[in-house]
Amino acid sequence: MDQVLGGLRAAGEETRLRLLALCARGELTVTDMVAILGLSQPRVSRHLKVMCESGLLERVREGAWVFYRLAARGPGGTVARAIVALLPAEDPVATRDRDRHNEILRARAEAAQAYFRANAEQWDDVRRLHVDETRVEQALMDLLPPESVRDLLDVGTGTGRMMTLYAPHIREGLGIDMSREMLAVARANLDQAGATHCQARLGDLYHLPCEDASRDAVTVHQVLHYVEHPAEAVRECARVLRPGGRLAVVDFAPHDLEDLRERHKHRRLGFSHDEVAGWCTDAGLDMVETRDLPGGALTVTLWLAHRPAAASAPSQTPNKDHAA
Ligand SMILES: C[S@@+](CC[C@H](N)C(=O)[O-])C[C@H]1O[C@@H](n2cnc3c(N)ncnc32)[C@H](O)[C@@H]1O
Repeated sequence: MDQVLGGLRAAGEETRLRLLALCARGELTVTDMVAILGLSQPRVSRHLKVMCESGLLERVREGAWVFYRLAARGPGGTVARAIVALLPAEDPVATRDRDRHNEILRARAEAAQAYFRANAEQWDDVRRLHVDETRVEQALMDLLPPESVRDLLDVGTGTGRMMTLYAPHIREGLGIDMSREMLAVARANLDQAGATHCQARLGDLYHLPCEDASRDAVTVHQVLHYVEHPAEAVRECARVLRPGGRLAVVDFAPHDLEDLRERHKHRRLGFSHDEVAGWCTDAGLDMVETRDLPGGALTVTLWLAHRPAAASAPSQTPNKDHAA
């Protein structure tokens, strides 16, 4: 009761209602909100502080940036969503706020796409060497049906493709990547897809920002060949899987295209079935299925592993030497 009352009190002011309505559309920084509302930064920050303290909003720090969004859980988040649902969509102030927010989203998407275009040629080079991506995605969705996933973690999310693919079916998505530029593209794509239940976050795959046993599915799509210590990466993915949870790895089968190391910074030239199965076993996972999709010079392989209900989680602390 107290938390609901606290939330209602914290929201009981016009600017705060406007901020709640904006945060319901996606994550925003204080700078975004200042630009949209046309108010001073200290004023906006004060309102946000009150609403965070009451549990209506939550803040997520990413380096020097802080994003605000409706609280994902708890009574505060429920109150916030109920209040937003009561706000009239056609209100002129709310309409102006939405228009300004859309302008910001458009500008951000354009900047992200410019980065993507600048690198697209390089990525296309590799794509040409293997089977069409739609076939890979179809095979992945056969192995790990979207309807069977609730909480997805996409490791090395890049443009957020795996999350946009699964978004219509899942309860919550988290994509992590070490590249801010890729994350900007991912956020623009998630905004475009209306996937407000999915987030893209800066993070290192050796130290995933997730509790032990907190996810029921993890995808690692075309990431492991960039990684110095793939076995450690698999172990860290296994750590965050709930009992019964599944890990889907998509990567190349062993190949001899040495120039991919030089031109595209690949560290590893593909992986054998046995190699990946061994890492999974060591991480306490059972290999469920492996599928090869030959095409051109590269074969794409999909591995699906499962964390048995009775297995204990591997140690929470990954090898510090491997922090990239
Ligand atoms: C080829 S992209 C694949 C992106 C995405 N999974 C997809 O298939 O569309 C590889 C991604 O892995 C990310 N990455 C590489 N090493 C990483 C690390 N140690 N931690 C987090 N992300 C990493 C890169 O920044 C890049 O976005």
